[in-house]
Amino acid sequence: MHYLVTGHTGFKGAWLALMLTQRGHTVSGLAIEPAPGSLYERARLSEVLLRDLRVDIRDAEATTEAIMAVEPDVVVHLAAQPLVRESYRDPRYTYETNTLGTFNVLQAVEHKPSVKAQVIITTDKVYRNVNQIQGYRESDPLGGFDPYAASKAAADLITQSWMASSGCPVPTAIARAGNVIGGGDVCADRLMVDLVEAFSAGQTVRLRHPEAVRPWQHVLDCLNGYLDLADALLRGESSGEAFNFGPDADSFVQVGAVAASVASLWGTDSLVEVDEGPHVHEATLLALDSSKAELKLGWRSRLSFHDALEWTVAWEKQVRAGGDARAESVAQIAEFMRLVKGRNSE
Ligand SMILES: NC(=O)c1ccc[n+]([C@@H]2O[C@H](COP(=O)([O-])OP(=O)(O)OC[C@H]3O[C@@H](n4cnc5c(N)ncnc54)[C@H](O)[C@@H]3O)[C@@H](O)[C@H]2O)c1
Repeated sequence: MHYLVTGHTGFKGAWLALMLTQRGHTVSGLAIEPAPGSLYERARLSEVLLRDLRVDIRDAEATTEAIMAVEPDVVVHLAAQPLVRESYRDPRYTYETNTLGTFNVLQAVEHKPSVKAQVIITTDKVYRNVNQIQGYRESDPLGGFDPYAASKAAADLITQSWMASSGCPVPTAIARAGNVIGGGDVCADRLMVDLVEAFSAGQTVRLRHPEAVRPWQHVLDCLNGYLDLADALLRGESSGEAFNFGPDADSFVQVGAVAASVASLWGTDSLVEVDEGPHVHEATLLALDSSKAELKLGWRSRLSFHDALEWTVAWEKQVRAGGDARAESVAQIAEFMRLVKGRNSE
């Protein structure tokens, strides 16, 4: 199969492209330029891609032309402005990319006969957050306090409307997941990135919301869910639906506890302090109920919270010590795929 990954120059997209090639697929990518030091660059991703396109998804014509040229069998749409604090700084770019950009991808794919399945990636932040203890279900109302959450909720609704009103000419589904961690992330304002940077430099880490409870999931578990969903679409199942892909209940952990665990895995004397702010509003409790993905797709997380931290720290330590980023990622993907196979045959 030929997969088109939008946002392949970003964190999840680069891991997804490597995972797909490891599974024997052909991969093309569509995104804007990578951030300095990205996994895309460090893993020399352009070497494994069939087509590696620089396209701004805000440009409808360029997006359509690119998708026409690639002729993919499957589209996984990840490209987005994914950061809450950046969305306060530049809401227009966030709305244009996440909302109109998603619409442009849907329209570009609509009349592309080669495309047999399409997965649109939104987020756990699409739910109207009422700080409930139990996990959000796919049928819960959407909302969006900050511009990022609102833009993704709008993208989710646009996709739902497109799926319903266009008659879904291309089998399409929505995937919602929360915070993911893994080696090679360079996005500003993400806890794991801040911790790794500070600990490797022996500096003090300043936490914005140590009391906030978040789901922590390894990026490979989340991507495995996206691909299980694509496989279901290819089998003629689950089109027009949304699915949550969250970690197990023991992976909902306070930010402060995550920082302490990573410090101990890193073996650092660095200090963790509370940054009193002021800070922009960020959700304090966000949990997902993923029983639908478990029941209908047979998906579940394979790595525990602790495994996810360990794999991330191991990757960062290895690559920071001069290891090859692609080789390290490919080795973790192979180990992950062994886990998936082993547990599926249990
Ligand atoms: N990383 C997480 O914890 C997390 C959690 C929930 C949802 N998500 C979602 O997963 C997706 C990927 O997130 P990520 O963490 O890899 O982010 P990232 O910032 O690392 O990657 C974003 C990608 O989108 C591309 N992009 C940004 N603006 C673009 C534009 N105008 N046109 C074309 N491409 C553009 C970037 O070039 C990059 O390839 C996003 O849709 C995000 O909302 C991520």
